[in-house]
Amino acid sequence: MTADLVDSFGRIVRDLRIAVTDRCNFRCTYCMPAEGLQWLPREEILSFEEIERIAALLVRRYGVEGIRLTGGEPTVRAHLPVLVEKLAALGVDLSMTTNGTSLRLLAADLRAAGLRRVNVSLDTLHRERFSEMTRRDELDRVLDGIDAAVEAGFSPVKVNVVIERGVNDGEVLDLAVFGRERGVEIRFIEFMPLDAQGEWDRSKVLSQDEIVATIGASFPIERMPARGAAPADRWRYLDGGGTIGVIPTVTHAFCGDCDRVRITADGQFRTCLFAVDEIDLRAAVRRGDDDEAIARLIEDAVAAKWAGHQINQVNFVRPTRSMSQIGG
Ligand code: GTP
Ligand code: 5AD
Ligand code: SF4
Repeated sequence: MTADLVDSFGRIVRDLRIAVTDRCNFRCTYCMPAEGLQWLPREEILSFEEIERIAALLVRRYGVEGIRLTGGEPTVRAHLPVLVEKLAALGVDLSMTTNGTSLRLLAADLRAAGLRRVNVSLDTLHRERFSEMTRRDELDRVLDGIDAAVEAGFSPVKVNVVIERGVNDGEVLDLAVFGRERGVEIRFIEFMPLDAQGEWDRSKVLSQDEIVATIGASFPIERMPARGAAPADRWRYLDGGGTIGVIPTVTHAFCGDCDRVRITADGQFRTCLFAVDEIDLRAAVRRGDDDEAIARLIEDAVAAKWAGHQINQVNFVRPTRSMSQIGG
């Protein structure tokens, strides 16, 4: 028997995102400074056993149905398939968001361990722009990683593209074509105010409407049925060329349907990507709290979840952590 984990707006938690590390082998300009961030010391990161304990509680007690592994870059964490096997045993829809560089190496092992789906981040198809955006010359490895994911049997494979006006907004159509040719779903993401450098401003956001209009001008598309709690709105190519998604955080906030909570690599529980408060579950686990006590902390945090981010309001407060530290 599970009990719903529900907030004061009636939204039920069904989805858990776990950052397994804050480290990353890339230095994306919108995510971290060139010199990288101060990585967390090893002892501050949750162990696999600690992650498993918290995840099991959320699944068994509250009926959480999906778990997504994030980072930093999750594949930077040593022995990741071991964790995947533990979490897969909980019987959830287990997925991962990755920059793709390690998939040629790891895809088969992760799949065998029970990972069901992967989303790969790829913002440009131009080698030089890729190097500028990620500060790493690894476009070919990411492209090969996407192929490796498809070959390993992950389905669907989605490709996340953050569009920043003035940087890669001229590539919307090329990326859409890439998705059609490779049989992967491209998801265009509106640039969000979570960049490490604090350089975000509204003028850099290419809106969902602009993205859809650009693609629609070359390929007939139709909107698919409502998305439920997922962040992406989806469209289908009328010629059978697959689907695309757009994640419109800035221009069409979807907080009212949110069903997710997060745990950072250092064990902080967050009820929103943009939350400014965190609950220290690592401390609770390490001081020996029993499941009842931990459940109480989680229920109190969820009960206090806010209605949603205020990006479009003057009182919007940026989280102090960057995207890689929060775990996307
Ligand atoms: P699917 O289960 O495949 O739909 O995954 P997902 O889209 O939930 O996860 P993914 O990690 O691929 O995230 C894609 C984009 O959605 C990223 O830019 C995320 O930061 C953004 N995103 C994820 N969760 C949230 C959220 O709670 N709020 C907002 N506004 N954006 C989110
Ligand atoms: N705005 C939108 N998406 C972002 N991501 C990282 N930073 C931002 C941002 N400021 C994306 C990554 C990855 C996912 C986890 O979040 O590119 O696809
Ligand atoms: Fe790494 Fe992702 Fe941040 Fe890029 S956006 S530096 S791949 S964590």
